[in-house]
Amino acid sequence: MSHFSYRDGVLHAESIPLSRVAEEFGTPTYVYSKAALLQNFAAYADACQGRDALVCYAMKANSNLAILDLLAREGAGFDIVSGGELLRVIAAGGDPDKVIFSGVGKTEAEMRLALEKGILCFNVESIPELHRLNEVAAGMGKRAPVSLRVNPNVDAKTHPYIATGLKANKFGVAFDDALATYRAAASLPNLDVVGIDCHIGSQLLDDAPLLEALDKLIELIDTLDAEGIHIHHLDIGGGVGVDYGAPGDKPPVPVGDYLGRLFARIDAWRAARHDGRAVKVIFEPGRSIVANTGVLVTKVEFLKPGAEKNFAIIDAAMNDMMRPTLYGAWMDMKPVVPREGEKAVYDVVGPVCESGDWLAKERELAVEPGDLLAMMSAGAYGMTMASNYNTRGRAAEIMVDGEQVHVIRQRENPADLFALESMLK
Ligand code: LLP
Repeated sequence: MSHFSYRDGVLHAESIPLSRVAEEFGTPTYVYSKAALLQNFAAYADACQGRDALVCYAMKANSNLAILDLLAREGAGFDIVSGGELLRVIAAGGDPDKVIFSGVGKTEAEMRLALEKGILCFNVESIPELHRLNEVAAGMGKRAPVSLRVNPNVDAKTHPYIATGLKANKFGVAFDDALATYRAAASLPNLDVVGIDCHIGSQLLDDAPLLEALDKLIELIDTLDAEGIHIHHLDIGGGVGVDYGAPGDKPPVPVGDYLGRLFARIDAWRAARHDGRAVKVIFEPGRSIVANTGVLVTKVEFLKPGAEKNFAIIDAAMNDMMRPTLYGAWMDMKPVVPREGEKAVYDVVGPVCESGDWLAKERELAVEPGDLLAMMSAGAYGMTMASNYNTRGRAAEIMVDGEQVHVIRQRENPADLFALESMLK
């Protein structure tokens, strides 16, 4: 069920008209639905019911403290990629014990912080990283729990910038090198080898590549067992896509169906193993938890008819939402208050001084200056990828909970943007 729908001719977030949010808080503004967030998390939690499984929300998708807090209360762990993200988890009351640390370039300081806080696992991506982690842990008199991110060389069939599981990508340890890398990890005195993980890409519409990756990890776990290296958890990464409604796109596989198939394979494998030993399953979903929980509300400033194209110039820009220009992503633009009248085809563009500053192309819209538009499914990789380009303050973030409206991030003022700068003395 969508928590963004038209009532009395106005697009609402739960019970709140988006026009009211715009009036009260201005535009551009991200508006989230708490019910949508909880519903998306529940799709994972329900499918994991009664199993040894942990959902580590990939907070790079949206790291607002309110969102982290709500998910932590539901029992979520977190997939982090920086020391900054770990500090956010802690600030939001999340448990470091449920945190896994991904990423190819962890610094010594980040490793130290994560060891101090006692995270669940480091997802290590290379031999030099293993050595660095071993040294940092030794210096602290600790042992670091590690999992190796294995690159299963599976084609995720998604945009090349967000496919990560192919040989050509910078991520993970090549499948063929995995055994040797595990041996190296097991030989280091301050590391505990506990897991195996992969992440093959984002916005996957089909689960076949994920299940193919799972089969490869399972095969490797059996090989490692024979070597005396016992894996306690299997982390399959994130990746289930969402329905952006792009023309011609097929709907993504429902989360429950994917998890059902994944657990069925794991159960069959366990049943076939002589010792029947359990392996904890970890997921790192980002987009499927938050994308359709948020919209970006923006105002049309001007209409600019052109010889070749008509432009609708809005007050949101590429700095607020990078996805269209960075990936050519198609995101739906809905009028907040649909009007009668003739439609025209517009490129919806922002005020930033770049031709790449567009949010939607060739959309049929009936709009006038002053109208509000809502960019749909903007809750993932929207605000977290926003920048201050052109000295534009980042948008406000609002969360709706039924009839209540909460400001979960204030709009940035221009003065905030240069507060850390100084002139030569
Ligand atoms: N785990 C790891 C190690 C990842 O790198 C990612 C995403 C995830 C989990 C979460 O994947 P998800 O469930 O969200 O598909 N900015 C791009 C997406 C980049 C994804 C990067 N990694 C976009 O807006 O489409």
